[in-house]
Amino acid sequence: FQSANLEPYRPVYHFTPKSGWMNDPNGMVYLDGTYHLFFQHYPDSTVWGPMHWGHAMTNDLTDWEELPIALFPDSLGYIFSGSAVWDAGNSSLLGTDSNPPLVALYTYHDMEGERSGKTDYQSQAVAFSLDKGKTWEKYQGNPVLPNQGIKDFRDPKVLQWVNTEGKKEWIMTLAVMDRIQFYGSENLLNWTLKSEFGQGMGAHGGVWECPDLLPFTLADGTQKWVLLVSINPGGPQKGSATQYFIGQFENGVFTPDDTLIRWLDYGPDNYAGVTWSNLPKDQNRTLFIGWMSNWLYGQAVPTEGWRSSMTIPRELSLFEVNGTLLLKSTPAEELTNLRKRSYQIGSKENGLPSEAFEITASVSDSENFNLFLSNEKGDSLRIFKEGNLLSLDRSKSGITDFHEDFGSVFSAPMSWEATSIRIFVDAHAVEVFVNEGELVLTSLVFPRSPWKKVHLLNGISKATVYDLKK
Ligand code: FRU
Repeated sequence: FQSANLEPYRPVYHFTPKSGWMNDPNGMVYLDGTYHLFFQHYPDSTVWGPMHWGHAMTNDLTDWEELPIALFPDSLGYIFSGSAVWDAGNSSLLGTDSNPPLVALYTYHDMEGERSGKTDYQSQAVAFSLDKGKTWEKYQGNPVLPNQGIKDFRDPKVLQWVNTEGKKEWIMTLAVMDRIQFYGSENLLNWTLKSEFGQGMGAHGGVWECPDLLPFTLADGTQKWVLLVSINPGGPQKGSATQYFIGQFENGVFTPDDTLIRWLDYGPDNYAGVTWSNLPKDQNRTLFIGWMSNWLYGQAVPTEGWRSSMTIPRELSLFEVNGTLLLKSTPAEELTNLRKRSYQIGSKENGLPSEAFEITASVSDSENFNLFLSNEKGDSLRIFKEGNLLSLDRSKSGITDFHEDFGSVFSAPMSWEATSIRIFVDAHAVEVFVNEGELVLTSLVFPRSPWKKVHLLNGISKATVYDLKK
């Protein structure tokens, strides 16, 4: 539909590329007040193709500026997913002590190698920036981690930690088929295998991709490590999704606390998400963003000239429910700065202010609630909880016929009390946070005209609507 927004379905506070194709977020690194976001990008088409690293930045997590492409494919291959770190001590010697480099680690995908039947077509490589991320140069000695004949060998995510000898060390978390490998390095250029994780653990309905290893300190001081692993296919709602493990990371070995399969988001559209590196230590936050789509139909969604958004930035933390630790994804607090006009709603049927809004409510019946959005074309989007199941129904949400699995009902088990709900809507983006993110459903929708009303059916008697339009 043609709307107040510039183009149909174009969100205003979510990052989208101006044109062309986008998938995974890459290289997220914070430096001097700027949050950098790189992304899997094919500028010449709205479907996947020769991958580049697109580049965007924000200072406030709500206003995004797209910058020139950072990395172009070259004779070694397409530029697949990876990460970036601030090499403050110039351990790589790619900068100088007075001008240390930003270092990106990414995967080369040698398309011709794959076509000609080779198995070693993915390898890890380095690029660096000496002007704080504006321009990038590829390292002459690439690849820094060649392949030993394993087809799926990709998506390096690097963090720095202090090892048992008290020495600073870089750790690379890498997806290898349906396993994770951990490598160690002192200079980001020479890598040694430390351990492998994944056999008999977690979901294995597809290939493992885009891992991330995150340290957390619980309120009682206990140290935990969370390992995010995206999987495609094999997610709980079909297609791609992100699972995670909670455990210990000691001497380069990850050991999970239990064998539970955990999912970061029970909606169909949050994939390949990872976290920012180099956030200020005093903020003590773990900031995440995901690709708001699904490989099942991501290349078929009805937007023109561009495809895909990122999720809103979310803060990850651990919480305990019935003796089990789970990951919570809370909307970054900066999102509240978008709140302008707001109004209370109490009756069953209420108008909506724009295509970009947030609905916040207390849940009066934690077992049973039901609300829906509607528009002038008769489309609807339902969000409801019945007993232990929280669901989102987009079967009648507008355009759904581009893929047989799009127009479905998506449910998530929730065996504990629901007390509050926040729903972020931004054109084609819908993100539902129950109890500030103890359970999340992220979903795309393509209504045939903008949502005009919200209906509170039961279990939620009043709510606040915020206009988030810019
Ligand atoms: C995940 C993924 C990554 C890969 C990239 C290629 O969505 O398949 O594993 O690096 O996309 O674009």
